[in-house]
Amino acid sequence: MQTIQTRKLSALALPWPVKWPELFGAKCPLILEIGFGGGTYLLHLARQHPEAGIIGLEISNQSLLRAERAVVRERLPNIRVIHSRAETALGHLFEPESLSEVHINFPDPWFKRGHHHRRLMQRDTLDALVSRTRPGARLFLATDIREYAEMSAELLEATPGLDNLLPASWANEMPGRIVTKYEGRAHFAGRPCHYFAYQRNQQPAPFVPVVRDAPMPHAVFASPLSFDEMHTAYTPFKAAAGDTHIGFSEVYQGRSGLIIEIHVSEPTIEQHTALLLAPHGDMTGEYTLKMSTLGHPRPTEGMQLAVRALSEWLISLHPDARLFQHKPESE
Ligand SMILES: C[S@@+](CC[C@H](N)C(=O)[O-])C[C@H]1O[C@@H](n2cnc3c(N)ncnc32)[C@H](O)[C@@H]1O
Repeated sequence: MQTIQTRKLSALALPWPVKWPELFGAKCPLILEIGFGGGTYLLHLARQHPEAGIIGLEISNQSLLRAERAVVRERLPNIRVIHSRAETALGHLFEPESLSEVHINFPDPWFKRGHHHRRLMQRDTLDALVSRTRPGARLFLATDIREYAEMSAELLEATPGLDNLLPASWANEMPGRIVTKYEGRAHFAGRPCHYFAYQRNQQPAPFVPVVRDAPMPHAVFASPLSFDEMHTAYTPFKAAAGDTHIGFSEVYQGRSGLIIEIHVSEPTIEQHTALLLAPHGDMTGEYTLKMSTLGHPRPTEGMQLAVRALSEWLISLHPDARLFQHKPESE
């Protein structure tokens, strides 16, 4: 394991799932920290475990930048920091039973009732964590928020794949632990911290499939309408199927056609990107609708739904418009 991370890594640009031995330059046990923030704990893990590959997930660009600089400055070859929500990484980047240890320190509490679904500690995410950890793997969680601790205790205790390593639901001290930024703040404010330590047992894990790239979506249709007419007719709209929600927002005239901004929200991934409506070959009146390259989109079932919903809407604008080809074919 010789190479220092110098390249920015993101769940949207990495292969699904990641070939970790290639990324680290060697096959090694994988230790994950979710939401590493200031990065002190992550760097400590890397120094403590030179034999392991340490993976840090963050959604804050500032935290990522700071960690990337620290990794280069300290010449730590065994860390990879990745721009990714934990939910996306667990769904797309890791194979079942691939992780040896997971650390979650002071996750954002999302206090407001309407925001509870964003909490990291919830059934689906915990099931994905159990699926991605190997028997014997350990899971550590710390929080200074009593309500979060109680909610986590309830979830963890109801998880057959995990055994509690502590005599109670949590401990209020964890000797020898390196103190994170939020932990330091809690100590300073006199707030008690709650530390959890669990171990993956031999019980079968919940089935959480690794989400891979879906076939590239694309539609070809004929319409008597011009680009300008379709542009004028366009108004933002929404589409949904199951847990997938798509918002079609602004439309722009690009050099090669119309660019339609979309937000695609799926259970494991959110993409803010665009579709491109371009002329189909040299034929006037024929159009191709496909993913644009803006925002580095990945082909997912949500992107397929986006192409299908928008092409259907464009075709509905004129009675003589008709679909030639839709990929992948709808059932
Ligand atoms: C309260 S801070 C704690 C930071 C650090 N672990 C500490 O103890 O000082 C929570 C961190 O988790 C990150 N975060 C929030 N939601 C996340 C998610 N779904 N996936 C990965 N990181 C997330 C935030 O950007 C933030 O840096």
